[in-house]
Amino acid sequence: MKRTGRGFWRLMMALALALSLGMDAAMAEYADVVLNSQAEAQGVRPVIYPHWFHRIRFRCKVCHNELGFQMKVGANNIDMNKILDGKFCGMCHNGDVAWGTEFCDRCHSGLPGLKTGIRGGSKSTGPGEY
Ligand code: HEC
Ligand code: HEC
Ligand code: HEC
Repeated sequence: MKRTGRGFWRLMMALALALSLGMDAAMAEYADVVLNSQAEAQGVRPVIYPHWFHRIRFRCKVCHNELGFQMKVGANNIDMNKILDGKFCGMCHNGDVAWGTEFCDRCHSGLPGLKTGIRGGSKSTGPGEY
């Protein structure tokens, strides 16, 4: 066990850090979507929809075909009543497929002032930006 001394673990930590930084860069290419047609005007923070996070978990056609999400930012006229009714985000965020609508801040996490649109992409410095 002598060989796995402090130097070894330091090396492993450095590798892990390098890996996670590399991953951030890759994820940033899968741009997040900001949804703020009504949110801020109605007193809550803009919604950050982490597209990449969902894309690695579900096939495109699940959302863009079966669940009916149009592939265009802001085109779906999502609002809170529809979600509470089990539509759009509410088809999964219902405490069953994924955590439910009571966790407001997990979706309403954007900084005030963000406009509906795509955030991130190759120029993004990552989710920490917003
Ligand atoms: C699963 C994600 C999600 C959760 C959880 C969530 N919201 Fe929303 N909410 C949205 C989206 C998406 C919109 C539409 C954003 C837009 O374009 O303005 C929205 C819009 C709103 C709006 C704007 C007016 C309206 O009726 O659409 C209010 C107010 C709001 N949410 C309040 C809340 C509150 C309060 C909670 C917690 C009890 C909550 N939301 C939880 C996703 C969520
Ligand atoms: C869990 C649901 C979900 C999955 C899975 C998903 N998307 Fe999306 N997608 C969305 C939502 C929500 C939006 C934003 C729509 C809006 O603003 O009204 C969106 C927006 C888009 C857009 C327009 C914004 C942009 O980035 O240009 C494109 C293109 C897109 N999706 C392609 C894809 C592709 C390709 C896949 C599979 C690799 C995929 N989506 C998987 C939910 C999903
Ligand atoms: C096809 C199902 C599906 C749809 C539709 C969907 N989500 Fe999700 N979402 C999930 C699952 C599954 C998770 C992971 C839940 C967990 O970790 O317990 C998740 C996680 C999230 C997270 C947390 C990401 C993280 O880093 O932990 C956010 C924020 C979120 N969703 C917002 C939304 C919003 C906003 C919409 C609508 C525009 C939406 N989701 C639509 C299934 C979905």
